[in-house]
Amino acid sequence: MNGNLIIKNASQLVTCSGFKPKCGKDMSDLHIINDGAVVIEEGIIKALGKTGDTLPDIDESRYFVIDAEGKAVLPGFVDSHTHFVFGGYRAQEFSWRLRGDSYMQIMERGGGIINTVLSTRKATKNELIESGRKRLNSMLSFGVTTVEGKSGYGLDLDTELKQLEVMKDLDNSHPVDIVKTFLGAHAVTKEYKGREDAYIDYVIDEVMHKVAERKLAEFCDIFCEKGVFSVEQSRRLLRQAKEMGFKLKIHADEIVQLGGAELAAELDADSADHLLYASDKGIRDMAKKGVVATLLPGTAFSLRESYARGRYMIDNNCAVALATDLNPGSCFSESIPLIFALATLYMNMTTEEAITALTINGAAALDRADIIGSIDIGKYGDVVVLEFPSYEYIPYHIGVNTVEKVIKKGELVFNKEKE
Ligand code: NIG
Ligand code: FE
Repeated sequence: MNGNLIIKNASQLVTCSGFKPKCGKDMSDLHIINDGAVVIEEGIIKALGKTGDTLPDIDESRYFVIDAEGKAVLPGFVDSHTHFVFGGYRAQEFSWRLRGDSYMQIMERGGGIINTVLSTRKATKNELIESGRKRLNSMLSFGVTTVEGKSGYGLDLDTELKQLEVMKDLDNSHPVDIVKTFLGAHAVTKEYKGREDAYIDYVIDEVMHKVAERKLAEFCDIFCEKGVFSVEQSRRLLRQAKEMGFKLKIHADEIVQLGGAELAAELDADSADHLLYASDKGIRDMAKKGVVATLLPGTAFSLRESYARGRYMIDNNCAVALATDLNPGSCFSESIPLIFALATLYMNMTTEEAITALTINGAAALDRADIIGSIDIGKYGDVVVLEFPSYEYIPYHIGVNTVEKVIKKGELVFNKEKE
């Protein structure tokens, strides 16, 4: 059939229609078609509308047909911030945090990111591919059809390249599309402790050039944080990255208010991420420049920090995206239902806003709002079918997966009924 697929009789076709990030009030409009149908040809959406209007002229025998009567249909979710390729786990650190140690205390005494760096350096490419594939399978089952993945657990040339090559391999062999981000400045190794500027030089001169030459990443990111990399160091690295053709992201204002949001606006980054402590000015600057605010409530939950001010950001005309931040330290979870629960119940976002944040705005955070993130003609046929008749069931069925089927580029790639 080759990507030729029809979904018909959907009780709600939640299109999230649009080709650019949605800011403020626009995040509430999901552009729903009741009793909807979508026609996908060779992986691309060719037609959509009410079933009765859309299908009469179409020879259904040429398509794989899904009858979605009594079911809501949405665009595939876009998880625009993860660190899903890593070696080893840090379950013990989680237990330490339960007993009162903070994330930064564990990092300062040599655990945290560096712990995962050591395991990732040791892991073979095949081991990373196999663990990465399992995580992608799980994400797919939650309705994720595009995921961003970061390096940053190598902090040396070979391992940074290895992580990015693993993602390239998985992108070619797994239905979920992977957008690759170079995060060489994720932490400093022991040898560079206290010489962060020299480490930034190393990343730029020895690693970033090679990543660019081999076209192994589209984005460059940095952990801009007190005790990690300063705003000045972040500015220096990201400017170089931009000159080399990378698009920009920043881990900004996660643990303290440092000015990462302002920097993201200054540099025209595609997104600033975390933003738990972003200042009012930083938020206004981001809204003005159209920088997507990517919020990661799973991390705030897991670290027992207060949540980013999603409501305030939307009310101040920001485009807000939501993502899982799946990683082995601050948030070992790829659960989309958890993100919906936290965003709606604890960040005062509406269900409509949360859906926009995980679809078209997630796509915008990856500079892909023209091709994914909504059910619009010309976009990839990336679609989820829920078990329930309305999108409102997503957060209502708290913490439970409501996705029944996932379609990627017109192919049925996950079907709960058959699992
Ligand atoms: O987004 N904050 C920096 N990086 C990750 C955590 C990485 C880790 O702990 O392994 C984050 O929270
Ligand atoms: Fe992160």
